[in-house]
Amino acid sequence: MILLDHVTKIYPGDKKPALDDVSLHIEPNEFVFLIGKSGAGKSTLMKMITKEEDPDSGKIIIGGIDLEYIRRRHIPHYRRRLGVVFQDFKLLPRRTVYENVAFALEIAGMSTREIKHTVPKVLELVGLTDQANKFPSQLSGGQQQRVSIARSVARQPKILIADEPTGNLDKLTSAEIISLLQKINDFGTTVLVTTHEEAIVNNLDKRVITLKNGRVVADQKTHGIYKLDGDPEVLIDSSPKAPGFALKNNQVISSTPKQKAKPSKSVSKKTRTSKKKVI
Ligand SMILES: Nc1ncnc2c1ncn2[C@@H]1O[C@H](COP(=O)(O)OP(=O)(O)O)[C@@H](O)[C@H]1O
Ligand SMILES: [Mg+2]
Repeated sequence: MILLDHVTKIYPGDKKPALDDVSLHIEPNEFVFLIGKSGAGKSTLMKMITKEEDPDSGKIIIGGIDLEYIRRRHIPHYRRRLGVVFQDFKLLPRRTVYENVAFALEIAGMSTREIKHTVPKVLELVGLTDQANKFPSQLSGGQQQRVSIARSVARQPKILIADEPTGNLDKLTSAEIISLLQKINDFGTTVLVTTHEEAIVNNLDKRVITLKNGRVVADQKTHGIYKLDGDPEVLIDSSPKAPGFALKNNQVISSTPKQKAKPSKSVSKKTRTSKKKVI
């Protein structure tokens, strides 16, 4: 589960918030596209989930963990529970495909025996069995992104987030990468992916969340289409409704509403819509 409850983030020195009262709730096993123009706040939202950045207000709960209470020294451990894929692959250039995946497992503390067992399986999943001994520079962009995906799913994370994973790829390769992410989703991983690939988004009928100026302007739960300006008809307040949450030892234990930011403003769908129109 990914839950953001009234999350606002203003970077130091900025006047406008990068995220402005964002609430969204993504259930386990969902596949969600996050779209929006450049500067809309997509990467900032991803960084909230990885705890690369902290919100100024609001609550973030990922897989039952309230990020506010993770100690700094535990952040690397927390991040290893997530799969993270980037636009620029971030592979180790002097290591082979096999070693890139194996290395990620090594740092996660997996035994050599387990690594030997796991890496070939993951490479098969992403279709790179034959490229195992190549170096990243010997691969196409699409293949490099497959390595990066292999590396991020090798530890079987419950959640995979991908920030513009197709940003450096041609259309056909992009479609293949998104289809690989779908396959990973079919195996039971929640996937949140930002993309500019309009055709892919429109073909897949998935949930589509649109950010504009740091706000969620549309949340199309099903059959989402690529529409950057949002649409009041599909504007949904996806903040946790009646069932909220309560925490014990950083785990969600009940459904008692608990909201930190802007406590008195439980705005209705209509007020939210009109509020947005003013902006
Ligand atoms: N490290 C930063 N410091 C200051 N402002 C930032 C920083 N990162 C992003 N921003 C600003 O926050 C807003 C959202 O950026 P970002 O989340 O990168 O959007 P997107 O990924 O949708 O292009 C932009 O106005 C951007 O200039
Ligand atoms: Mg970005």
